[in-house]
Amino acid sequence: MAIKTCVFDAYGTLFDVAAAARGAATEPGREALAACWAALANTWRLKQLQYSWLRAVADAHCDFWDVTADGLDFALEAHGLAGDTELRERLLALYWELDAYAEVPEMLRALKSAGFETAILSNGSPDMLAGAVESAGVGGLLDAVLSVQDVGVFKPDRRVYDLVGRRFGVGADTVLFVSSNGWDAAAAAGYGFQTAWVNRAGEPMDRLPWKPREVLSDLKGIPDLAGAW
Ligand code: LAC
Repeated sequence: MAIKTCVFDAYGTLFDVAAAARGAATEPGREALAACWAALANTWRLKQLQYSWLRAVADAHCDFWDVTADGLDFALEAHGLAGDTELRERLLALYWELDAYAEVPEMLRALKSAGFETAILSNGSPDMLAGAVESAGVGGLLDAVLSVQDVGVFKPDRRVYDLVGRRFGVGADTVLFVSSNGWDAAAAAGYGFQTAWVNRAGEPMDRLPWKPREVLSDLKGIPDLAGAW
């Protein structure tokens, strides 16, 4: 089935979640962070995601901002930085305006000029996503920014993936869903989307009942892929 709609995960896929800790680590007086920023960013991300999955299975939904802050608090304590409240506030502020990966604007522009519909489908709350889209300057290249807030549960609950069909009125097999999160790409494949996993870090494939259709190392190949299917 030909692809009509290209849908992107946000955090880690379009927006670089390590950018907050990396950026803060370059600021004056941040020697303690500079010594551990990559590990802290990794712990922060893992805890943020774990809390989202646990809240989904425990029927204890909250705003993605809350699991983002909870994950950061765990990470700061794990890396011996729990007392630095100014650093906590700085990291949260930077998370609001994460860098997009360099190829994102051109990739979205190529999709739009080829006639595809484009969207974000994310755990992020509408205001978090609006902040990230605005600071990346890609709002004009997206037909929709879809948030789990409309269904009150996090990925990979199927009700989240239902939002795409509800918004665009297309069949799942005409949707190319792109995520850098292996579990998200796998679950979306199980849902029935065509899927591409952007595996920037060269990680092993997640051991889940479903597999992404394609594996790419960045987003540059997405327009060709969408046109070829
Ligand atoms: C998102 C997370 C999973 O944007 O990266 O939905």
